[in-house]
Amino acid sequence: MCGIIGIVGKAPVAERLVESLKRLEYRGYDSAGVAGVVGGGVQRRRAKGKIKALEEVLAAEPLTATTGIGHTRWATHGAPNVANAHPHHAGRVTLVHNGIIENFAELKAELAAAGRTFESDTDTEVIAHLIDAELATGLAPIDAFKATLDRLTGAYALAVLIEGAENLVLGARRGSPLVVGEGQGEMFLGSDALAVGPFTNRVIYLDEGDYVALDHDSARIFDASGAAVTRPVRVVPTSAVMMEKGNYRHFMEKEIHDQPEGCQRTIAAYVDALTSKTAIPGDVDFAKLERIQIVACGTSYIAGVVGKYLIEQLADLPVDVEIASEFRYRQPALRPGALVVAMSQSGETADTLAALRYCKAKGMKSAVVVNATESTMAREVDVVWPIHCGPEIGVASTKAFTAQVSVLTAIAVAAAKARGTIDAAEEQRLVKVLLEAPRLIAEAIHLEGAIKEIAADVAKARDVLYLGRGPMSALALEGALKLKEISYIHAEGYAAGELKHGPIALVDDQTPIVILAPYDSWFEKSASNMSEVMARGGQVIFITDTLGVKHAPEGAKVVVTAPASDPLVSTLVMSAPIQLLAYHVAVLKGADVDQPRNLAKSVTVE
Ligand code: F6R
Repeated sequence: MCGIIGIVGKAPVAERLVESLKRLEYRGYDSAGVAGVVGGGVQRRRAKGKIKALEEVLAAEPLTATTGIGHTRWATHGAPNVANAHPHHAGRVTLVHNGIIENFAELKAELAAAGRTFESDTDTEVIAHLIDAELATGLAPIDAFKATLDRLTGAYALAVLIEGAENLVLGARRGSPLVVGEGQGEMFLGSDALAVGPFTNRVIYLDEGDYVALDHDSARIFDASGAAVTRPVRVVPTSAVMMEKGNYRHFMEKEIHDQPEGCQRTIAAYVDALTSKTAIPGDVDFAKLERIQIVACGTSYIAGVVGKYLIEQLADLPVDVEIASEFRYRQPALRPGALVVAMSQSGETADTLAALRYCKAKGMKSAVVVNATESTMAREVDVVWPIHCGPEIGVASTKAFTAQVSVLTAIAVAAAKARGTIDAAEEQRLVKVLLEAPRLIAEAIHLEGAIKEIAADVAKARDVLYLGRGPMSALALEGALKLKEISYIHAEGYAAGELKHGPIALVDDQTPIVILAPYDSWFEKSASNMSEVMARGGQVIFITDTLGVKHAPEGAKVVVTAPASDPLVSTLVMSAPIQLLAYHVAVLKGADVDQPRNLAKSVTVE
């Protein structure tokens, strides 16, 4: 949610703190701040809004510290203003926090009763007061920190400075990720490997409940019980910490264009191209599996819905897909013979993680389809199914979606073969189809020019309706989600058959209606829905393929013709047009494409 960086450096760190915060800005951009140890005291610089505003503050009032911490905030408790911006400060303690302290109200009342006063509305400030109160009893910094951690309920990743401790940064994680970066006579703390990426590729992923004391040369790590532990140092590949936009204006644009390669790399990890057979990593016996339970949020949930269509149809294996925030609180009926599959780009989404843990506690085997392979989910499941699309920085998910769908498609084919619903020849045919998908996605991206023209009209709309049948009904949800989140235009995605049961009332000559209809077994039905909306004045944007275009009813305002594809991969191919439409509408509206208002990339609060 929020981004954290800490540096015990040999030279002034302000510039590097800011550099890292820029990389973390995708996690939250309500306010930003840094603090550093200067002459035995700690100084702060904070600003409302984006990192740019913080840079201006720093230009006016430089910070010379060689040990410092930084934060970019996605507001939970308290409005996004300077008073609520991190770092927070109390007595000798200055700290930054990602997460939510659930028992903060009672802790705050206790601290207030002891005469402490607060300068912000945040839950974070109580942590600074608690540590300071422990220090005042004479405890050493690390012990005061541990005593405080023991009193916190909720989620946190923390980076802490203590006045009088010149070369010390304390860190801790529970429920929110935190990594240590090892430099040459310098140590780093960050929310993820991207945060420390410009400074080192030697990274230690802290375990749940760990806390750490960093100085110039060492990271002393302790587990939740207070025992000293060692955690392995991983060398992170440069590609995993690269985040350049290249010639693109936005990360989202780049990531849309990255998709053929991202899907190709992903598919290659799940099939054997030489034999044209599936090769799913991990120990899952699809033949014996009774059911799959997919849990996820947002776009990852929609990828799961696409997976359900494919897996049930091909493998006759029941799949339930549920929004994690609902699933985790409703006591769903589960059986140990089922496999829970979490879908998550970040691997840290709080609701998905809780749903996953719920299933594990019921004795279910677990898997995650995930981009961040060192994330909490990846470390807690029995089987990790990575997507290989590279880091996704744009807040709106694009390449992670198609990579997730690629994995589920390979799983659908593998499960079908294992369960005997397809034979070896059909498996080979389908694997070849899947291997062809990246080329077709690339062709679909070439529709960008045509989509740009449509975007000008859609940008004027107040409401937009997306319709589709079969897997395209899921893509209709995704099209609407993408448009809403980055262009702020109200949009709804519907299974086209539901049209007559309510949404058709929305149709008038001002409402663009995007119909997703490749030439598949649902095509005729989708074409009828197109006629129905046109009869009511609806302005249809018909997104079909080279086969469907020959059979489309007359009268659509615009027809977009994607390359024809086997139904196995049509969702992958049809994704680019709807992503590009949302992207170009948002650009025309002058919206902040990569960092849309109120959103953050990784939602580690429920
Ligand atoms: C939408 C989007 C979000 C995420 C959702 C889940 O474009 O990006 O809806 O899909 O927050 O995030 P992950 O996949 O990290 O669990």
